[in-house]
Amino acid sequence: MKKIVLIFLVTLFVSLKFSSADEGMWIPLLIEKYNIEDMQKKGFKLSAEDIYSINQDCLKDAVVIFGRGCTGELVSGQGLLLTNHHCGYGAIQQHSSIEHDYLTDGFWAMSKDEELPNPGLTATFLRRIEEVTDKTLAGVTDEMSEEERNEKIRENMKSIQDEAEKDNHYNASVRSFYYGNQYFLFVYEVYKDVRLVGAPPSAIGKFGGDTDNWMWPRHTGDFSVFRIYADKNNQPAEYSPENIPYKPKKYLPISIKGINEGDFTMVLGYPGGTYQYVTSDEIKWIKNISNPNKIELRDIRLDVMNRYMQNNDTIRIKYASKNAGVSNSWKRWKGEIIGLERLNAVEKKMELEYQFRKWAESGHNEYVGLLENFSNVYSELEKYDIAYDYYREAIMAVEIVRFASRFEHLLTLLKTEADREDIEKEITNLQHLMDGFYKDYVPKIDQEIFYQLLPLYYSNVSVEFQPDLAQMNFSGNYKRFVEYLYQNSIFDDQPELKELLTIDKIDELTNLKNDAVFQFYQHFNQVYEAKIKPKRDSLNYITHTLYRSYMKGLMEMQKDKILFPDANFTMRVSYGDVKGSYPRDGIKYQYFTTLDGVMEKDNPEIYDYDVPDRLKEIYQKKDFGRYEVDGTVPVCFLATNHTTGGNSGSPVLDAEGNLIGLNFDRVWEGIMSDMIFDPEQSRNISVDIRYVLFLIDKYAGATHLIDEMAIVE
Ligand code: ARG
Ligand code: GLU
Repeated sequence: MKKIVLIFLVTLFVSLKFSSADEGMWIPLLIEKYNIEDMQKKGFKLSAEDIYSINQDCLKDAVVIFGRGCTGELVSGQGLLLTNHHCGYGAIQQHSSIEHDYLTDGFWAMSKDEELPNPGLTATFLRRIEEVTDKTLAGVTDEMSEEERNEKIRENMKSIQDEAEKDNHYNASVRSFYYGNQYFLFVYEVYKDVRLVGAPPSAIGKFGGDTDNWMWPRHTGDFSVFRIYADKNNQPAEYSPENIPYKPKKYLPISIKGINEGDFTMVLGYPGGTYQYVTSDEIKWIKNISNPNKIELRDIRLDVMNRYMQNNDTIRIKYASKNAGVSNSWKRWKGEIIGLERLNAVEKKMELEYQFRKWAESGHNEYVGLLENFSNVYSELEKYDIAYDYYREAIMAVEIVRFASRFEHLLTLLKTEADREDIEKEITNLQHLMDGFYKDYVPKIDQEIFYQLLPLYYSNVSVEFQPDLAQMNFSGNYKRFVEYLYQNSIFDDQPELKELLTIDKIDELTNLKNDAVFQFYQHFNQVYEAKIKPKRDSLNYITHTLYRSYMKGLMEMQKDKILFPDANFTMRVSYGDVKGSYPRDGIKYQYFTTLDGVMEKDNPEIYDYDVPDRLKEIYQKKDFGRYEVDGTVPVCFLATNHTTGGNSGSPVLDAEGNLIGLNFDRVWEGIMSDMIFDPEQSRNISVDIRYVLFLIDKYAGATHLIDEMAIVE
């Protein structure tokens, strides 16, 4: 008996110690202060200055925001960049057509001349971080109203940013941390000429597709290759054939020495958003209402898309990226519900709230009653939040409605008789938008989605937020109504709209305001803008204020604990170790997968598992080169790094700062880590850098790229 208790205590101690270490997304600037000791204890061999410094080139200089929502990293002195396949997907798809189907066949530029420009795609470097809490809160007093306070903060932020952007081409942004308890300034440099260098076929880069997405075991070669170009002085410039490869301050050496369970690993990247400190009310809302509603709406969209995509290659290409986007969050929401249930997240939060109340009542008066206020606001918010979810996921999810909504600005310009120059500029914008829209648009898919989603808005959103469709010729039959909208709209008709959309047709353009789909959009938008948004915003505003206070209280109450700030798409460091898990009784997740598993999953009948012949041949011949381990090639691995959306493409580094993989996903069982990290189950999934190099080298034969890299053997 004694022995059992002892073992229990030891395990408890060990798991407490480790659990607090893996969780967290830390601010690079504060690694020295909060983390370096712990990191080094776990095996990290470098210093905090090697990660973030303004005095020397460091790891942060090799990491970029890729596009708008991903991370990428530099791997050569000539601007070569790696990110995920699903991050480069938009670019790969833009260059694809039936003749050059790069999605299906992959793409490899065999020389720099063949690298493909991508207007609008950027790579953003972080140049420095500075804590600016005092400057941001200067002049803010307790006597101020919330509005005055915010006005003051906005003013201060603006002047800090202006100051940081003076006489340079940087972009500065001041961001709030811990719900406005701290502020940091981020100074960025944006490169605008980013070219596509290579991508494996989707059958590798998206292997397992949405079937395997968010799950382990995983066998996805989720990478693509780009190159940043700069002007002659290595400065950012718009695309030009004259531009030359960018010379980074720092690029990552790549280790193919191999990884073992327990090895230190670190992820440097741009996690988008986490909700670690929300109350039990918020968890209930997400788990019981919001996620289930959104899942139901996306079930419908996905069913329709999948049915059309299955038997038609043209449609499949057109809808590939959209489908992946819709299904990704849909599946995450499902996993979150299960994980929050399993962890008893609501009860855990209530327990914390109980402690908080007790603590508040023991002399911390400013926090007394805070949680009750939360509950009141949350219950008032509910119907607005429901309406908001449906507005976005049922109404604005219809492609033609969203497209029509983009013409609102033009119509306003016309109505207010704006300068001809502004009108002309807007028309040019819309012409671009229009080309992109029609390139991948299939009206019958959209129409079917439209008439299936619309009734759900009417059966689930409060009557007060339901526009009166009777004004719009609604005969009680949603399908017929949607057909009517299409028949009386120009937005599904490319040639007609194209002809109309010119500066010479200003008078006729004004008539777009009578277009049936545009009117439909306006009816909903008016209700949204007048009845949903203002009240929802003001209630959210109140919750934010409450969270500012709650967060401050939580930090005071748990003085001995370092609480990491929620992710907010600023650069963060997560660290942990390479590690498998035990997801369910009798099942063990080994920490790595191999090429053997790709072959096991091979099934030419199933789109997601159709292994390319060339990969099979290489596998047969065992032509694995230096990437071979035990007669096969490592493919993906698991680790305990705390990551979230936005961390896709992030470098996964070893103890010496060498690149060992690209982060691209999390496992299903641990997916609720945006709200609660579970050290037992939360794992990030990375593609092993040896699989990436093997594919570039042996599959694509793009050895010139390998030659650019610094490989540590
Ligand atoms: N779940 C990963 C992320 O959130 C990968 C998504 C892309 N892959 C896919 N099969 N849809 O972005
Ligand atoms: N796939 C995600 C992304 O695009 C990363 C996975 C996650 O959410 O952890 O950023």
